[in-house]
Amino acid sequence: MSQTKIAIITGITGQDGSYLSEFLLSQNYEVHGIIRRTSTFNTDRIDHMYVDPHSPDAKLFLHYGDLTDGTTLRRILEEVKPIEIYNLGSQSHVRVSFDSPEYTVDSVGMGTLRLLEAVRDYQQRTGIEVKFYQAGSSEMFGKVQAVPQSETTPFYPRSPYACAKVYAHWQTINYRESYDLFACNGILFNHESPRRGETFVTRKITRAVARIVAGQQKKLFLGNLDAKRDWGYAKDYVKAMWLMLQQDRPDDYVVATGETHSIKDFLELAFSHVNLDWQDYVAFDERYLRPTEVDLLIGDPAKSEEKLGWKRSVDFPGLVQLMVNADLAAVGISNGNQDGSEDFAVMNRSSAATVD
Ligand code: NAP
Ligand code: GDD
Repeated sequence: MSQTKIAIITGITGQDGSYLSEFLLSQNYEVHGIIRRTSTFNTDRIDHMYVDPHSPDAKLFLHYGDLTDGTTLRRILEEVKPIEIYNLGSQSHVRVSFDSPEYTVDSVGMGTLRLLEAVRDYQQRTGIEVKFYQAGSSEMFGKVQAVPQSETTPFYPRSPYACAKVYAHWQTINYRESYDLFACNGILFNHESPRRGETFVTRKITRAVARIVAGQQKKLFLGNLDAKRDWGYAKDYVKAMWLMLQQDRPDDYVVATGETHSIKDFLELAFSHVNLDWQDYVAFDERYLRPTEVDLLIGDPAKSEEKLGWKRSVDFPGLVQLMVNADLAAVGISNGNQDGSEDFAVMNRSSAATVD
C-alpha cells in the first residue's frame, strides 16, 4: 500500500491556500492547514472542503498557528510529519505594508526564516526530506530592470512587502545551498479569482460592478489607474506550485501569462461586460496611492512552460468575465457564471464594508 502524502499549507485560508488545498485533495494528499485564531470565522474559503476530523473521510486538518510564532510552527511540523510544505502565509497587501512595515516584515521575512529553520532541524534529526515551496512575488522586480521579467532579472523591491519577499527568496536559496533542502521559490505574477481578497484592485472592481448593477453602490474610488500588471487565474497558478515540488531538483520559477494590462484595461472589460461605461462610476481617491509604485509587470513564463509543462487555461478577458459573473451571482444576478458553484459559495459573503 502506498504511503499517504501529507502536506502543510501556511495561509490556507487565503485565496491560493484554498485552491491549493482543493488541488492537493484531488491528488489524494492529506492536507494540514495553519490558521490564525481570530474573533470571527476566517475559514469561508475552505469551509466547503472541511469534514469533521473524527470522520474516517477527513483529509483536511486545521491547526492554530502563526508565522510570527516559531515554537508552534515547529510543534506542528513534528506532529504532522509532512513531505511537502507550502509557505503561502503573509500580510500580502502591498499598500498595507507601508502602514504596517514591521508586522509585514515579521510575517513575510522572519516567518519564512522560522519555517526554514524548523524544516532544517527536522530534516537533519530525522533524515526525512521535506520539500519546501516559498510564495515569492513579481513585486520583487519593483522598478523593473528588464522587460519582460524572468528568473534572472535583478530585483528592485519598492515596498516593505517586496523587501521582505526578497529576503525570504534569498533565505530559501541559502537553505537549499547550505543544508541541501529541497526548497523552491515560485516568483508568481498577480493572480486573481472570485476568491481574491476584496481590497485588491481586480476584486474591488468586479465586486463594485456587481453592486452597482444591483443598486447597492454608486461610485468606485480608486488610486493609480495607469499601473500595468500581468494578471492570471489563481487556480492555474497553484498547480505550478505543486509541479515545482515534483521535479527531480529544486529550482526557482517565474509563473506568469506574458501579457500586461493597465487598471484602465481591467475597468473597461469589467464594466462593458454589463454594458456600463466605467468613466461614469470611477472616482479618484489619493488614499489608494502608494508612496512608491510598481509601474509595469510582465513576466516571461518560458522556464515554467518548458520545465514544468505548466500552461495557463484562462486568458485576460476570460478572467475578468468569470470574476464579474461570480460577483453578480453573489448579489443574486445570474449572468451565465461558468466558474462552478464552489466559487460562488465561498465568496458569497454578505459584508458591505469596503475598508481598503
Ligand atoms: P491572501 O489571500 O492575502 O492570503 C494570505 C494568507 O496568509 C491568509 O490565509 C492569511 O490568514 C495568512 N496569514 C496572514 N498573516 C499570517 C501570519 N502572521 N501567520 C500565518 N498566516 C498568516 O494571499 P494570496 O493571494 O492567497 O497569496 C498567497 C501567497 O502568495 C502570499 O504569500 C502572497 O504574498 C503571495 N503572492 C500572491 C500573489 C497574488 O497575486 N495573489 C502573487 C505573488 C505572491 P487570514 O485569512 O487569517 O488573514
Ligand atoms: N488595492 C488597490 N486598491 N490597488 C489599486 C487601487 C485601489 O483602490 N487603485 C489603483 N490600484 C493599483 C495599485 O496602485 C497597483 O498598482 C495595482 O492597482 C494592483 O494593486 P493590487 O491589486 O493591490 O495588487 P499588487 O500588484 O499591489 O499586489 C498583488 O500582487 C503581487 C504580485 O505582483 C498582491 O497579491 C501581492 O501579495 C502580490 O505579491
